[in-house]
Amino acid sequence: MPKNLLESVHTASQQAECGVIYDKKPFKVRLEPNKKYSWCLCGQSKNQPFCDGTHKSPYLQIKLRPVRFQVDTDKEYWLCNCKQTSHRPFCDGTHKREDIQAKIK
Ligand code: FES
Repeated sequence: MPKNLLESVHTASQQAECGVIYDKKPFKVRLEPNKKYSWCLCGQSKNQPFCDGTHKSPYLQIKLRPVRFQVDTDKEYWLCNCKQTSHRPFCDGTHKREDIQAKIK
């Protein structure tokens, strides 16, 4: 399993709730080790799987915050897009759950 090097720095990955299901499959993306990224947890960003600031909208009243993360190797990673993973921001296979697969056509 890949690691989020910022997990102990930011508390956002410990939020108890999950966002809305955005997609029923993960998204493969090349990430660089010297960059910090923000993974969308609320599921409402238009720049998935990354945060675009939508959670700050006063109209949506979203309590969830994005998960800041950093990786240790320059390679392709599968980022969770169902937003239900237990290993934020990475896909841990949770999207295979029946209720998630049934949610989006
Ligand atoms: S896409 Fe969310 S666990 Fe795989």
